[in-house]
Amino acid sequence: MRNDNKNSINEIINLVSQFIEGKIVNLDKSNREHPSIFHYYNEIIRYWSRLNYIFQKTLRSLDLYDLPQKEIATYIYTTYRKLQENAAKKNIIDELNLSTDQNNNISRFIDKLETFSWERALSGKSKLEILSIKEAIPTFVIDRLLPVMSFEFIKENIQSMNDYHNYDNFVRISDLKIKISNQNFLNILKNELKSYNILMKRDPEIPELIYIPNDKKSLILKSSSYSSSKIIFQDKASAAVIKVLSPQPFEYICDMCAAPGNKTNLIAQYTSNHARVIAGEFLPKRAFEMSKLINRTNSLNTHLINCDSITFPLRYKNIFERILLDAPCTGSGTFSANPELKWRQNKNFLYQNVTLQEKLIESALNLLKPNGILVYSVCSLYQEEGELQILKYLDSLEPLQIPEWFSPSYKINSNVVPGTGRLFPSINHTHGFFIGKFKKKEI
Ligand SMILES: C[S@@+](CC[C@H](N)C(=O)[O-])C[C@H]1O[C@@H](n2cnc3c(N)ncnc32)[C@H](O)[C@@H]1O
Repeated sequence: MRNDNKNSINEIINLVSQFIEGKIVNLDKSNREHPSIFHYYNEIIRYWSRLNYIFQKTLRSLDLYDLPQKEIATYIYTTYRKLQENAAKKNIIDELNLSTDQNNNISRFIDKLETFSWERALSGKSKLEILSIKEAIPTFVIDRLLPVMSFEFIKENIQSMNDYHNYDNFVRISDLKIKISNQNFLNILKNELKSYNILMKRDPEIPELIYIPNDKKSLILKSSSYSSSKIIFQDKASAAVIKVLSPQPFEYICDMCAAPGNKTNLIAQYTSNHARVIAGEFLPKRAFEMSKLINRTNSLNTHLINCDSITFPLRYKNIFERILLDAPCTGSGTFSANPELKWRQNKNFLYQNVTLQEKLIESALNLLKPNGILVYSVCSLYQEEGELQILKYLDSLEPLQIPEWFSPSYKINSNVVPGTGRLFPSINHTHGFFIGKFKKKEI
């Protein structure tokens, strides 16, 4: 384990043990900022079912039964260290700092792991089961994607989300804080990036975004440009959604599901604080965090409401010129950043989200002016949250053009769903997104 002490290993094992108990663990700030705890917890959860499969198979041959949760967590950690990182047996045992009895068992377990063979472990399994076990992805996800993606394309996307190096990080200059045209600041930023061995490279599709190599992200988090909020991390898909929305100064714009607020902030930036932006967010804690971002970034015309956007607390209907509905969803396109979400994927979770999205789309249709623009987006790979949602509302919505560099959305019954597109982790190196742009018909 990289430069670490026994306390952090104990913490990792405690966190994994809580995960086994069924708790959804959100790492607190100090754990998120601790490189080893963040890395090992995230990667163990990312590969959870694969590690568990190897662990169960290996344990069976050692006659060890009914282990308490904390010991299971220790074995799973050992499995990760041995098979994913090829760590030496002595190092693993030293790190764990266990009693003599436990050491003997771990030592036998590591000997067994050394003889583990995928060929033997997977013999007789179907192609789908092998993908599910090796890439640690629930069969539910594969089954849901098979009607709209080839098996190979599913595999590529799952692998892209597992290999988080494949995901491109970007920052953008926070123009409300410091003018993008400020040559002085551009030089300062260029030099700061240079001091971390980063060349200022802009994204070809969204030139406001500056590419940050994965292994440099932690340096940027400590940089003075970042800590003074002059640059902000922004996911490319998230910036693409606002490009599609194309907000204009002096418009009345609603961002219905707004926290943590990076998209709202880009709306304010693109309109130079001249649009009236009403942002809704249901969860108080997320709204509170977002209010801090609004202040930090000088977003002057953004009014944040802690509300349920299904019944948006405004007296009038048909008032907004543009609405962004970046809807709550299963997050099935974001496993690279949120590996724990893999283990929440099931039919109930999907249909809870589908129902919530329907109610929010209906609310958006009430709030939008005739001829007003609606952008609907979800960070999901499922057709149920994307194309199939839109098909229900095409009587009220006229499709508009979306950028040509987007990947096509799924064909439904061999037909393209107009006004919609997708971003895929394996093609676009972003989170998986569905994005649609429409005009509300005058009825
Ligand atoms: C996909 S996230 C939005 C991300 C945000 N647009 C951004 O780019 O930073 C969806 C958000 O909707 C919020 N939400 C869920 N149900 C809601 C509702 N009924 N009304 C308003 N917000 C809701 C969630 O708490 C979550 O913060």
